[in-house]
Amino acid sequence: MSGGSLAGRLVLVAGATSASGAAVARALTSAGAAVVAVGTRPDALEALQASVPGVATHVCDLSDLGAVTALASDVHAAAGRIDGLVHLVGGWRGGGSIAGQSDDDWDFFDRAFRTLRNTTRVFYDDLVASPAGRLAFVSSTAVDSPTAGAANYAAAKAAADTWVRAVAQGLRKDGPDSAAATVFVVGALTGLQAHLGDEVVRLWSAPPADVNGARVPLTAAEPLEPRMNQ
Ligand SMILES: NC(=O)c1ccc[n+]([C@@H]2O[C@H](COP(=O)([O-])OP(=O)(O)OC[C@H]3O[C@@H](n4cnc5c(N)ncnc54)[C@H](OP(=O)(O)O)[C@@H]3O)[C@@H](O)[C@H]2O)c1
Repeated sequence: MSGGSLAGRLVLVAGATSASGAAVARALTSAGAAVVAVGTRPDALEALQASVPGVATHVCDLSDLGAVTALASDVHAAAGRIDGLVHLVGGWRGGGSIAGQSDDDWDFFDRAFRTLRNTTRVFYDDLVASPAGRLAFVSSTAVDSPTAGAANYAAAKAAADTWVRAVAQGLRKDGPDSAAATVFVVGALTGLQAHLGDEVVRLWSAPPADVNGARVPLTAAEPLEPRMNQ
């Protein structure tokens, strides 16, 4: 759709093949954005492309900095700099108790965290250069209410949540009138995927200062209001 509110914007969805990835890609394309969807499984990206026509796809292991740098070169050559990065790589592992928090599970979460560090480091200059750069990340209520049984998960999400708000501080300095990084906070995404897509699109109609560094609760019941601004 070329005439939507996001016409002319290019948005990369990192980890695009989950139900929330498809919903976000659908909302973005419906608003007129060009979308680059990224994941590691070609078959899942093909299925996404079939359900959200017009989405461009790239296979990339985003935990590999070299691969993300190569991805950026490809995207820049094909479509130019991005205006938005929606980071959705997550995953869940429990453990049952503090003693049950395994190194293997921690490595799993560290890998997801590295996808956030890599994509934001590589595409930061794009977000600053854009007339409307936006970074969106989905955090968890576990950050504020951690449990022993999910300590690995909560600690890793807390690190990622903090990383995004550090990016926000950089954007406040480097792109104060144009760029913003926002954390959505949710307990469970089931049933809220389309709502997430709508809220991601809405980031572009909000003044950057209103959403930069904000932690926004994602609930179905009420309209979203930033809970905290730096
Ligand atoms: N689901 C929930 O209830 C819930 C609750 C709170 C917060 N969140 C957060 O919300 C976000 C989205 O969650 P979700 O459950 O919809 O998605 P998810 O299951 O975490 O989806 C993972 C996505 O990331 C991709 N991915 C995984 N490793 C990758 C890598 N190394 N490089 C590139 N892509 C990779 C996967 O595709 P491939 O397998 O093809 O690589 C998939 O598209 C996450 O940050 C999650 O922590 C979710």
